[in-house]
Amino acid sequence: MISLPGLIDVHVHTREPGAVHKEDWDTATAAALAGGFATVLAMPNTQPPATDRTTFERTLALARQKARCDFGLFVGAGPDNVNAAAGLADRAAGLKMYLDATYGPLRLDDMSLWMDHFAGWPKNRPIAIHAEGRTLAAAILMADLFKRPIHLCHVSRKEEILIIKKAKAAGIPITCEVCPHHLFLCSDDIGRIGSGRAEVRPRLAAPTDRDALWDHLSVIDVIATDHAPHTLGEKDGADPPPGFPGLETALPLMLTAVKDNRLTMDDLIAKMHHNPRRIFGLPEQPDTWVEVDPVAEWEIRPSDLHTRTAWTPFAGWRVRGRIRRVVLRGQEAFLDGAVLSPPGAGRSVR
Ligand code: DOR
Ligand code: ZN
Ligand code: ZN
Repeated sequence: MISLPGLIDVHVHTREPGAVHKEDWDTATAAALAGGFATVLAMPNTQPPATDRTTFERTLALARQKARCDFGLFVGAGPDNVNAAAGLADRAAGLKMYLDATYGPLRLDDMSLWMDHFAGWPKNRPIAIHAEGRTLAAAILMADLFKRPIHLCHVSRKEEILIIKKAKAAGIPITCEVCPHHLFLCSDDIGRIGSGRAEVRPRLAAPTDRDALWDHLSVIDVIATDHAPHTLGEKDGADPPPGFPGLETALPLMLTAVKDNRLTMDDLIAKMHHNPRRIFGLPEQPDTWVEVDPVAEWEIRPSDLHTRTAWTPFAGWRVRGRIRRVVLRGQEAFLDGAVLSPPGAGRSVR
């Protein structure tokens, strides 16, 4: 048995309020604990989106009532909420800016709006950005112009990791995350997964993109899941929404990669605990850890998952490394497949 610090997932869609048929704060945080995560940072593209004091506080109240692990909430950058968002900076995990199209209504096209938010949001508070391809290059330019840190979400392509490497070397204050699905899947897998189920933003990329991420692991600060549950009915329907559940498969996949010598255990702990904590300025969780059986081999089965959507693009994969127990602030929170932490046990990170 080995012990890891409580993992931190800085990119989770809990779906509550607005789409609790997909997931809610209870099931999302149960899935988190089952996956070895003691803290989740939740995205604001709910219905309504968390973009002002009323919607933000309402979502936070739901989290307080229902979360089984610790949590933070991003405030969403919209076209007319620069001041309202900045007023929530002390209460928020960070500001989330959507600069490319994805699920939900939050999207900023006009770069003058980006600049307004960059000027308004406090410099010592994180900004997380959904930007792909050339949009990502434009976001990096903003970080340089405003001399302020940004965190780039779910980097998926070779051209992106290469420009991030170059920008970091030039001293531009950026950090980035990569999701397990972009490390372990690519366009070759779409046929097997099914085209609707394989929809995700950023899309599954070419094998060369996936390989470039592995080749540049040292440029990647964080492994985050972008846990984005949609029901199988929706994924298999006429207009499949993008996203995969990921909370319960991330650690086993990464432990399997450690076994295969693709990264070290220290790399894993840095990218799933220390770096997320530093980048987002999160408090320490005393007496919090995850116990893992590093040699247990098992098969990922949808029926074992705690996420309400109960499906995964990794169904049938054999992985090595099983999460046995999670202790959250001294309390047994997960044991051998059962989530023991009750709704309401989670605390806000701010
Ligand atoms: O695939 C995705 N799904 N990418 C995103 O950026 C949003 C997410 C969602 O909320 O479903
Ligand atoms: Zn995104
Ligand atoms: Zn996301």
